Amino acid sequence: MTKIISFESSADETSVAIVEDGNIVLSNSVATQINSHQRFGGIVPEVASRHHIEWITRVLNDALDTAHVEPKALDAVAVTYGPGLVGSLLVGLMGAKTFALAHGLPVIPVNHLAGHIAAANFNKPIKYPAMALMVSGGHTELVLMREENQFEVIGETRDDAAGESFDKVGRLLNLPYPAGKTIDEMAHRGQPTIKFPTAMAHEDNYDFSFSGLKSAVINYVHHANQKEETINQDDLATSFQNAVVDALIGRTKRALENFPVKSFVLAGGVAANSQLREELTMLLNDFPKTEFIPVPMQYTGDNAAMIGAAGYWNYKKNIFADLDLNTDPGLDF
Ligand code: KG4
Ligand code: ZN
Repeated sequence: MTKIISFESSADETSVAIVEDGNIVLSNSVATQINSHQRFGGIVPEVASRHHIEWITRVLNDALDTAHVEPKALDAVAVTYGPGLVGSLLVGLMGAKTFALAHGLPVIPVNHLAGHIAAANFNKPIKYPAMALMVSGGHTELVLMREENQFEVIGETRDDAAGESFDKVGRLLNLPYPAGKTIDEMAHRGQPTIKFPTAMAHEDNYDFSFSGLKSAVINYVHHANQKEETINQDDLATSFQNAVVDALIGRTKRALENFPVKSFVLAGGVAANSQLREELTMLLNDFPKTEFIPVPMQYTGDNAAMIGAAGYWNYKKNIFADLDLNTDPGLDF
């Protein structure tokens, strides 16, 4: 049994977890700062790093207490070193290194994006070759994994990330940040009365684009405001979400046709979207040799348990870092 303690602080969640063998979560303590950022309509980096400093020790103690694990029973310390906000990443990194030094444990560097994907192992073991649709506030990527812990980006967004487009439309409609969950709920109540464009549907690649859709929504709202027409916000949410999900499904279908895989993983904050989960379940019925593995709902958003899962992949490959490990805010696969 390998017990890894993991630290995540790349954006606005301070989190420490203890995970056994990459798939059993013994504890996952998460402190969210969303309330502090809501009035600004987005994450304020300076505010975020201050909160991480305030919370990290409490979250660490909580993770150890909940798991009933003594530091001497641990095998390694995993930590997110990128991508993310530099001031936020630094706090988790310092916490992890200090803990490792104090208890004589090795440090495992973890890519936040690999963490999101590894969280699928909390649902079912990923079988390889596998593909992942990684959709978050900062990333929208189709990732091919020919084997465990190897990532090949076959498609990505050329402009906004999927989650970012939810948040920008939310800001336009004066919804609280981040708006993905609220729009998801509104979309259930509305009707798809507005036809928005699904970008790049006919192009010969696996890339995405969401800025055209965002502009179409902005134009629609401005036009209605000028004519002093009231907007049915639920209908707008349904129509917008349909366009985002259509784009994600279309590209995924094409990728699955050209790369036969054993597992298909849905990961990242937007993986919580109910329509996306439903439509991917239906799509995967057409690919009976591919098992659909969405990340369990409670692990779709940022959390340290997922970093423990990806940390275990590195641990098995002897990928460790020295104590001079630095952050890499722009890290990709
Ligand atoms: O992975 P995540 O927690 O943080 C990043 O690494 O970016 O993703 C956050 C994103 C936000 O843009 C949020 O609006 C979106 O995930 N999100 C959703 C839903 N829940 C969260 N988007 C659509 N539908 C949801 N139910
Ligand atoms: Zn994330």
